[in-house]
Amino acid sequence: MSNVNVQLNDRPLGHRITGLDLSRDISDAEFDELRQLYERYGVIVVSGQDMSPEQQIRFSQRFSELVRFPMAQFNLADYPDILVVSNVIENGKPIGVGDAGRCWHTDMWYTDAPPRGSLLYALEVPVENGRALGDTMFASTSHAYDTLSSDMKNFLEGRMATFSHDYHAEWRANQTASEKSGARKTRSETSIPDNRHPLVKIHPKTGRKCLYVSEGAIVAIDGMEHAEAMALVDELLQHVTREDVVYRHNWAVGDLLMWDNYSCLHCAIGDFPASLRRRMYRTTIR
Ligand SMILES: [Fe+2]
Repeated sequence: MSNVNVQLNDRPLGHRITGLDLSRDISDAEFDELRQLYERYGVIVVSGQDMSPEQQIRFSQRFSELVRFPMAQFNLADYPDILVVSNVIENGKPIGVGDAGRCWHTDMWYTDAPPRGSLLYALEVPVENGRALGDTMFASTSHAYDTLSSDMKNFLEGRMATFSHDYHAEWRANQTASEKSGARKTRSETSIPDNRHPLVKIHPKTGRKCLYVSEGAIVAIDGMEHAEAMALVDELLQHVTREDVVYRHNWAVGDLLMWDNYSCLHCAIGDFPASLRRRMYRTTIR
């Protein structure tokens, strides 16, 4: 009998898996069961883990080869396949990416071939008055596609959008500025060229259709005026991230959260002060 237990929540994704110890090499049958749950739900939480960096890498490599994060200074010393997500400063330098993902996005949408998914393992979680801070929210893009009107599905069929890292940098800077002083910033040039993706992608494993959008990322949609295109992006984002379908993960040390960039969007909540430590290790699968 299998050790893998699934605790379903009332959302389309974010279900909890218990009964697995990933610090040992789980059997092929257990791995296959876990892989199927990951594919079916898009986001799963494997809780209660105690893994070394080697063990996280070895487990992640059973899915596919790993993708290294391009800003190498944030990768873990001696383990470049692990990206450190942390607000910790050591010797005057941040040890990892501190304010990653504070908007609804899929990872690395600014590349031509975004990675399949990410595995994020919590080593330190900020806690205030007994409650963990720094939740991450997830929303299902396959559920969102399925619940579109047939008119909208037809309209989106085969339609391409232009994604721009330059535009996103400007959008992010203005978000941060309006949170702080209100001073607007103009479009900044980054070294990453614009790229194009279809607004609907077909999941390579499940065959399900998924909406492909990210906040502050799309600058144009083929066959649409700019204002119309921006209004459509807003409408689609609102549809994907409706409160009643969002799973909000409240982290505990030892959680390994796995998400699939085809079938979900995610958003990190930065509600914790710099004085509280947060440290997580991410591996990224192709
Ligand atoms: Fe992310």
